[in-house]
Amino acid sequence: MWLPLALVLLAADALAVKRHDFKTCEQSGFCKRGRALAARAKAASSTWKSPYSVDASSVAISAQKSSFTASVVSSLYPEIKFELEVRAHDDGTFRVRMDEVDGLRKRYDETAKWALIREPTLSDAISWKQTKKEIKATNPKSGVEFRVQFAPLRIALSRNGKEEVVLNGNGLLHMEHFRLKDEPSPEQPPVENQEGEEQVVMEPPVKPNAWFEGDQPPQWEESFGGQTDTKPKGPESLSLDISFPGHGHLYGLPEHATRMDLPTTTGENAKYKDPYRLYNLDVFEYEADSEMALYGAVPLVHAHSTHSTVGVFNAIGSETWVDVDHPTSDSTETHWISESGIMDVFFLPGPTPDDVFMQYARLTGTPALPRHFALAYHQCRWNYISSTDVREVQARFDQDDIPFDVLWLDIAYAPNHKYFIWDEKTFPDPVDMFNDVAAFGRKMVVIIDPHLKKDTTYPVYKSASEKGLLVKPASGSGEYDGWCWPGSSAWVDYFNPASWDWWQGLFKIEGNNGDFHWRQSTTDVFIWNDMNEPSVFNGPEITMPKTNIHHGGWEHRDVHNINGMLFQNATAQAVMHRTDPPQRPFVLSRAFFPGSQRLGAIWTGDNLGTWEHMAIGIPMVLSNGIAGMTFSGADVGGFFGNPDPEMLTRWYQVGAFAPFFRAHAHIDTKRREPYLLDEPFKSIIRDVIRLRYSLLPVWYTAFRQASVSGIPVLRPQYTVFPHDPKGFSLDEQYYIGSSGLLVKPVTAPGIAETEIYLAEAQPYYNYFTAKIYRGKRSGTNVTVPATLYQVPLLIRGGSIIPTRERPRRSSALMARDPFTLRIALDASEQAEGELYLDDGNSYEYEKGHLVWRKFTASKVAKGPLKITSEDMAALQGGKNVVDGVDVVPFGSQAPNAFRDAVQGVRVENVLVYGLKSRPTKVSVGGAEIEWEFTEGAAAKSSSEGTATILRIRDPAVKIVNDWSIEVAF
Ligand code: NOJ
Repeated sequence: MWLPLALVLLAADALAVKRHDFKTCEQSGFCKRGRALAARAKAASSTWKSPYSVDASSVAISAQKSSFTASVVSSLYPEIKFELEVRAHDDGTFRVRMDEVDGLRKRYDETAKWALIREPTLSDAISWKQTKKEIKATNPKSGVEFRVQFAPLRIALSRNGKEEVVLNGNGLLHMEHFRLKDEPSPEQPPVENQEGEEQVVMEPPVKPNAWFEGDQPPQWEESFGGQTDTKPKGPESLSLDISFPGHGHLYGLPEHATRMDLPTTTGENAKYKDPYRLYNLDVFEYEADSEMALYGAVPLVHAHSTHSTVGVFNAIGSETWVDVDHPTSDSTETHWISESGIMDVFFLPGPTPDDVFMQYARLTGTPALPRHFALAYHQCRWNYISSTDVREVQARFDQDDIPFDVLWLDIAYAPNHKYFIWDEKTFPDPVDMFNDVAAFGRKMVVIIDPHLKKDTTYPVYKSASEKGLLVKPASGSGEYDGWCWPGSSAWVDYFNPASWDWWQGLFKIEGNNGDFHWRQSTTDVFIWNDMNEPSVFNGPEITMPKTNIHHGGWEHRDVHNINGMLFQNATAQAVMHRTDPPQRPFVLSRAFFPGSQRLGAIWTGDNLGTWEHMAIGIPMVLSNGIAGMTFSGADVGGFFGNPDPEMLTRWYQVGAFAPFFRAHAHIDTKRREPYLLDEPFKSIIRDVIRLRYSLLPVWYTAFRQASVSGIPVLRPQYTVFPHDPKGFSLDEQYYIGSSGLLVKPVTAPGIAETEIYLAEAQPYYNYFTAKIYRGKRSGTNVTVPATLYQVPLLIRGGSIIPTRERPRRSSALMARDPFTLRIALDASEQAEGELYLDDGNSYEYEKGHLVWRKFTASKVAKGPLKITSEDMAALQGGKNVVDGVDVVPFGSQAPNAFRDAVQGVRVENVLVYGLKSRPTKVSVGGAEIEWEFTEGAAAKSSSEGTATILRIRDPAVKIVNDWSIEVAF
């Protein structure tokens, strides 16, 4: 949240979240009701049964046999009917939907429409079989069984006869039906189930939701912080329990400042008091260890065990609280309490972590392949105050030879916060400024927030208002008025399709569309969408009232968590379509929701300049990645406060190993651009930024893989070694894509060495020194030097790392630079790696204009070591699979303008670590080439030593060609 400066200064001493600005579960009527239901069920323990049951006679299996519908009724309200629909998809996932039939009102059912890329294809291999008690089907490919038991309703996914995901196993399913405000509640005696057992151990309801002994939590009106939610539709919450028997670890569910292996919120020794809250909020000075809601919400969890990973994606866009418990060390129970909307739950059967990533990506899309520059270093601050300031910052970076790609402008450029308009005094020449920055291949990012100043002289507001595109207040007419940076503001309703073209029109640079558009911009300008939770300074919990009305008459309550994504979507579309043909956009968003991964990057918002925040940023970014949002990072340096040089240096080392690498700082902080630091800090930071640049080929390749498969760029230990329980809670070290780079950034002061966990009997090599650390099959910790100038970065034996090692001012200037290949041999002297390249800007890669190589190093006993480069296209049979779909075939025969453009690019250096004997000759195509060999240093212990290094200088091979280097012994 954003407060006037005076308040910010007052708060600066305390630097603590204002918890009282935000509801606890106890203060939220529907959450309290949901938890009370859970408490009641628990108290009744074994006698508790869900009141919901399926009417067996109503089951209707579709003609295709892959889905069915059935009527469901709750014995508490027998006159209310629900329809259940279960679908089996061709990739093995299942979807369960439930809605009230002919209710007094309609529940919001469009969340999936925004989250999914397309309606999933139904399976043609499944056929449902019904008995008196249940209906079930087995997927012949995976052996996964899906079963819906009728009374009580209970849904389970099993593998090899064992249940792995169970919905309503604890009987907490409850869909509050729509009712009239003064409707007396029916008094119902307990209903008997088919076995003649009494089904409900609950007293007959005297009022709706009568599981309360004490005061009824408010259902028709609720006040908090002096604001009243009038809840015109009354209670309509949805409670669901989902258990993961046999799975003791739970991941995902961002955004929370917490460990990746989600701590418990209920049950014995619960770490947190409240459930994890999913409600996009601008939480000022958030805590580094908390279950509180933050800016984004992805209702997706992965449950993990040594035998499998399974996932659940609950497509819900309203406020949701999730309790997590581990009743035993190898089981997990979750309880989801949502304010409104239908039930629409996807079961992702895995069985590996990568399978779950791919299953989720097939539903909601893979992360977009970013612009190449977006993976380089971003320099931001609130604020660079003028075009002179911008030019000076750029000059200072260049003077000190520190690379950067992107310079950011925060809100000060726009007079009275009228975005798109330049302050003529401070930014008299925006286009010249952009061009000056672009002269070095660099870009700028300019902030555009979602609030529009209500001022009829502001053309953007005027146009949106005249076209009726603004969010409406509870009355359903006029314009909602809230406070944000510009004072009285209005918000465009991006649920209204009419707003999309209009927003796109604003970003047109050329021509004259008869309306205002952003002529004072260039195609080197990209966009930052901040405050899109949305943040409303005078709104309830610093956001929009739930009673506001969106397109289609839906309340903001129903769509709150989706809202920010639609703003980023509109902006990404607009940036993309500034040119014809379109170019890849770059848009950073603070709010996010399932599907946001298709649009651009996110960051973890306003962190504090403390070691705790630096440390928690790593699991936060890992969790974002698990939930699809792989293009994410935390503000380097910490947004609030003035980090000392050691902290700032360490923070750069963290940021350089995050997918999104941006330094940012609050308006009240001291300037802290890296060139301002004294030595040795300045040089250490320069080195780590350069390291990031040299590794850009690795990052870009990892993003390509993510964009094709959905597997995140940062790979937590458990995803790489899913059967090794010692790695299940590790969230301080992680791998980068499939490259084999393993990093553990330091996040504490005064550190000289750190422990890294190795899960396999393979050598790992220090990236900088080629020192060997030998892993063990049973797993082992190794000690890696980590003084201030040392980043604990290892290469996994068996990997080939492509880098570009010439320092440049910006990544664009590296586009024709030669490559170095670092070959880290495994215990049997084998290695492989990948390199993906394209123009970094356009969508031409979708037509096959790209270079995608596979490198292999292989030694057969007593034979030579062969290092080869092959075309991935050829290896994949000419397939170019994007988003799970074979888009356009490509291959060595197809036209490939990009390959032609980089055909001269050489491999200038090959380093081979870990050869067991000294070579006698190195040759390419029969011709001998130059090499040198360094013997490894004797090991101090059996687990350590320095690898042998074979250095082949300029082997005269091109990056785009097939080749083979032969090392003879
Ligand atoms: C809030 C954002 O989180 C922060 O990064 C930004 O600097 C300020 N808004 C000002 O725009």
